[in-house]
Amino acid sequence: MSLVVAIRDMFEPILAEMSPDRAKVADYLAMVKPAANADHGDYQANFAMALAKAVGQKPPELAKTIIAKIPANHLIESATVAGPGFINIKLKPSHLESRIAAMARDERLGVPTVAKPKSFVVDLSGPNVAKPLHVGHLRSTIIGDALVRILRFCGHTVVGDNHLGDWGTQFGILIYGYKHHRDDAAYAADPVRELARLYILVRNLAKASDDDEDTATGDIMDACRKETAKLHAGDPENVALWQKFMPACLEMLRPIYERLDVKIDHALGESFYHGMLPGVVSDLLEKGIAVESNGAVVVPNAKGIIPKDDEQAKKEEPPALIRKRDGAFTYTTTDLATIKYRVETWKPDVMLYVVDARQALHFKTLFANAKRWGYANVDFQHIQFGSILGRDKKPYRTRDGGTVELAALLDEAAELGLKKYEESYASRKAVGHEVPELTDEVKRTIAETVGYGAVKYADLSGNRTSDYIFDYDKMLATEGNTATYMQYAYARCRSIFRKGDIDETAFRSKLPAVSNTTPQERALVVQLLKLPEAIEAAAAEYLPHYLTAYLWDLAKAYSTFFEACPVLKAETPDLRDSRLVLVDLVARAIQLVLNLLGIRTVERM
Ligand code: ARG
Repeated sequence: MSLVVAIRDMFEPILAEMSPDRAKVADYLAMVKPAANADHGDYQANFAMALAKAVGQKPPELAKTIIAKIPANHLIESATVAGPGFINIKLKPSHLESRIAAMARDERLGVPTVAKPKSFVVDLSGPNVAKPLHVGHLRSTIIGDALVRILRFCGHTVVGDNHLGDWGTQFGILIYGYKHHRDDAAYAADPVRELARLYILVRNLAKASDDDEDTATGDIMDACRKETAKLHAGDPENVALWQKFMPACLEMLRPIYERLDVKIDHALGESFYHGMLPGVVSDLLEKGIAVESNGAVVVPNAKGIIPKDDEQAKKEEPPALIRKRDGAFTYTTTDLATIKYRVETWKPDVMLYVVDARQALHFKTLFANAKRWGYANVDFQHIQFGSILGRDKKPYRTRDGGTVELAALLDEAAELGLKKYEESYASRKAVGHEVPELTDEVKRTIAETVGYGAVKYADLSGNRTSDYIFDYDKMLATEGNTATYMQYAYARCRSIFRKGDIDETAFRSKLPAVSNTTPQERALVVQLLKLPEAIEAAAAEYLPHYLTAYLWDLAKAYSTFFEACPVLKAETPDLRDSRLVLVDLVARAIQLVLNLLGIRTVERM
C-alpha cells in the first residue's frame, strides 16, 4: 500500500464519523497530498476546509478536532494545523525505515499490482502505411507504448493493437504510381524504396493543395481514388497489387518500431475488417440505429437528427456516415467493425484510443454509436494528444517546409546523442576525471539510447493534451527534466558502486539497514517512497507525465542528498552502507520508470 493510501486509511474512519454526507468522504480523502513545502511536513491534508463548511465550524478548530482523533499508530509522528486549516503530516522515521527496507527487497520496488485487474485494448500508432512514417505518428506510438507498459506493470491484461491505415487512398496512389511510373529494376532491387519514391512522385505530380488525400482535387487524385475504389470492389489486378505491396509497406515500418523499442501485439489494419463492413451496416439498419438518407446510410446524432446541411451540422453533433452514396464504406464503419471484433475476441473492459486530439469529434460520435449498438459496458476513452510544433510554434516541418520523416528524425537524434556523449567525455577528461574508453559499438549504443530517449522523454514529459515544441537542444540538455539527465544520473549511481568495488547483486542479497539521519537523506527516502503513488496516478489518468514529474523530483532530491552526504567516504561503514542502499534505489527507480516510458539506460556513459 502506498504511503498516501496508508495515510488516507488512517483518516477514513474519522471523516466517516464526522461527515454529515458519507458520500463525500472519498472526495475529502483525495485531499491528502504530498506536502507543497517539505519543510512543513511530508504530506498535507486539505480536507478540513471543505468539511468545515459542511458542519458549520471554523476550519482550524475542526482540524484540531480531527487531529485529536488520530489513534495511536506506527505511521504518523506529528500532525499540526497551519494557515486556514491545513494539516501538516510528518511520518515516523521508523516507519520510513521499514518501508524503504521493504522497497529495497522488492523487485517491483514496493509497487503493488492492482487488486482488480482489468482487461484493456490499446489502439496505438495506427500509421497509414505505404508512405514513409512521419513525425505525426510519433506521439501515438510513444504515448501508446508507455501506457501499455504502465498498465501491464500494474497487473492489468493489455492487448496492443495497431490499427494500420492499410486500405485507404494511399494504396490508390501507389497502384496508380506503379501502373504509370514504375521502375521495374528499382522495384526488384528494393521494393520499399521504390514504393516510397512512387508515393512521393505521384503526390508531387498531383500537386494537391490539400494534404488530405480523400478530398484533394485534381485529375491525378481522382484517378488514384478510382484505383482505391477498384481495390475495394475486389478488382483482381488491384487486389494482387495490394497483396504485392503490403509486405514491402510493413517492411518500411519495422525498422522504426525496432529503433523505438516498440512491440505491438497485433496489427489488424483497416483491410482486416473490409469483409465485415456490409454486415455492420445491415445490422445497424435492422436495429433501427442507422437510416437511409439520400441514398447514403447514416447514424443520426444523439438527438436523432440528421442535419440538413453543413451549417446545421456544425451546430448539432454530426450524424455518422457509414455508407456513402457510391456504396463506399467509411473510417467510421471500419471503426465500428473493429469494436465488434475486439469485444468478441478480447472482451475488454476498457478500450483506449491513443489518437491525435483533432479526431475528438470522430471518437465522441463513434463511442456514442457503439454504445447504442450494444457495447454500453465498454469504457471507451479517447487518449488525446496535442501537436508537435517547430520553434516557430507552427506544425513541425523540415527546413524546406516538408513533412519530417521519422527515420530522419531518429537519425538526427542519435547523431546528436553521440555528440552529447563526446562533449561530456571531453569535459570530464579536461577536469582530470577518469573516463572509461569505450568501443565504437558501445558508443553507438549510448548515442541511440540517449538520442531516442531524449525524443521520447520530451514527448512524454508534458501533459499529453498540450502541444509541445520539438527542440533537440532542449531535449538533450544534460541539466533539467530530460532523459539525458536521468540517464546520466543513473550511470553516476552505478559508477559509485564500481568505484567502491561493490558488487550490486551481492550487496542486495544482504541488505544493510537504512537509517535516515540527515534531512537530505530523509527527503530522499520520502521521495523514493512516492513511487507507487506516481505509477498509480499515471495509470489511473492515463498520464505518463506523472512519471517524469516523479523522476524530476527524485533527481532533485538525489542531487541535494549527494552534495550533502558523502557516500563512499561516509564517517562509518554502517552509514556508508545505508547511503549505498539509497543510491542503489535511486538507480533502480530511475531504471524502472524509464523502462515504463520505453526508455533505456546504459550502465556507464
Ligand atoms: N490511421 C489513422 C490516422 O492516421 C489513425 C487510426 C486510429 N485508430 C482508429 N481506430 N481509428 O488518422
